[in-house]
Amino acid sequence: MKIGIIGTGYVGMVTAVGLAELGHNITGTDIALEKIDKANQGIAHIYEPGLEELLKKHLKAGNLTFSHDLDGTISSSDVLFVSVNTPQQEDGSADMSFVESVSRRIAENLNGYKLIVEKSTVPVKTSSWIKRIVCLYKKQDYDFDVASNPEFLREGSAVKDFLEPDRIIIGAETDKARDILTKIYKKFQDRILITNIDTAELIKHASNSFLAMKISYINLISDLCEKTDANVELVAEGMGLDSRIGKQFLKAGVGYGGSCFPKDVRALVKIGEDLGVDLNMLKEVDKVNTARVERFVEKIKKALWILKDKQIAVLGLAFKPETDDIRNAPSIRVIQALQSEGALLRLYDPKAAENMKEEVPESAKVVYSDSPYEAVKEANAALLITEWDEFRCLDLKKVKELMANPIIIDGRNIFEPEKVRELGFEYYSVGRE
Ligand code: UDX
Ligand code: UDX
Repeated sequence: MKIGIIGTGYVGMVTAVGLAELGHNITGTDIALEKIDKANQGIAHIYEPGLEELLKKHLKAGNLTFSHDLDGTISSSDVLFVSVNTPQQEDGSADMSFVESVSRRIAENLNGYKLIVEKSTVPVKTSSWIKRIVCLYKKQDYDFDVASNPEFLREGSAVKDFLEPDRIIIGAETDKARDILTKIYKKFQDRILITNIDTAELIKHASNSFLAMKISYINLISDLCEKTDANVELVAEGMGLDSRIGKQFLKAGVGYGGSCFPKDVRALVKIGEDLGVDLNMLKEVDKVNTARVERFVEKIKKALWILKDKQIAVLGLAFKPETDDIRNAPSIRVIQALQSEGALLRLYDPKAAENMKEEVPESAKVVYSDSPYEAVKEANAALLITEWDEFRCLDLKKVKELMANPIIIDGRNIFEPEKVRELGFEYYSVGRE
């Protein structure tokens, strides 16, 4: 069975490499030709732990290749995973134009039975549209099926998540489609849940929105903690010990970012609106999340009063650790707020600085540093926005000596308050004294 992956972005690339590791024959294709050229040289265009090693391994083994030729990839594949992006539009809904145009190209190149698998996050009922488009545009009368196989990869641990999944969701409506996907994921047969396509599509949006809700919930609780003597870390621990709640996704902080949660929560609200179902609760989740950055900036102002011409070190730019991805990163909004107040910024991230330079270019008031120590030099305050391990291991004595004012505002609760204060820092964090 030959598998084509259309769209080798964050999801498509990991899917290509992961399916190759499961022993399949994979061709990846993308309109961004430079990604394809790099991939064929064994270079991943994204930073993702373990990705490049597996990429090189399977290029060498000969069961993974990348092609500029979309039509050729379609004709030579039996199964096509569609993992093009589905960006958010003004009204919150997902822009499905890339999925539509890829569906047309598949139709035009149909040269035998194909299974088209939705990998991108799509609104419930998308498969009906794909089917309609393929029927309208197909030039030859071959059979095809559409199936949904949502991905649950977390950036930063995407390869591991692919190779050790909690579950494989297969939404299909014919035996043939079900059999093909079950065979592809044979290694995980104890974890496969087979549903109809609408259900599979909804599982993805419902899961992401639920996790986002958990984060907004604990963030609200952290506000309560700040008004009392409670400690949000311990509240989360105490809640998480209840197996019905679970301890994951209860880290309070500057809010969730990334290419999924913010977009998927809004998309589900819009799906609800279109279907006449009021998902107001999710509007609140989004509202709470947006307010986190404002709250964080208030803390900075509380510590520094006037931000104009204050030198501020921003440690952590990626939306989460172990990725170079800055899509919807809370750091962007924090930086914009500080810029509008006239602060002087020194930014540092182990992996995401290059991507951030496109969003926040270097200027007289914005400098990118090569190390966290360089960033904190002469700073009036240091902000922690992404919980990279590198920051947990900082030599805080050295940091204190380098800073003009030893003030840390920690948006991810990286440090133990007592320890940092003992070293002579003024320390602010989230939901705890
Ligand atoms: C994924 C999912 O596909 C998206 O639906 C989900 O909500 C977020 O995660 P991701 O892999 O992160 O998207 O997006 P991106 O890194 O932008 O990758 C999409 C790729 O598709 C890009 O490399 C882009 O060049 C490619 N693409 C886009 C095509 O090859 N053809 C197109 O017509 C459009
Ligand atoms: C998410 C889903 O977890 C994954 O299943 C889906 O396929 C894609 O979307 P991702 O966005 O890559 O993955 O990372 P995730 O680890 O879920 O973190 C998302 C955001 O939530 C990050 O900004 C992170 O900092 C934040 N977060 C996460 C918290 O603020 N607190 C937490 O407890 C967990």
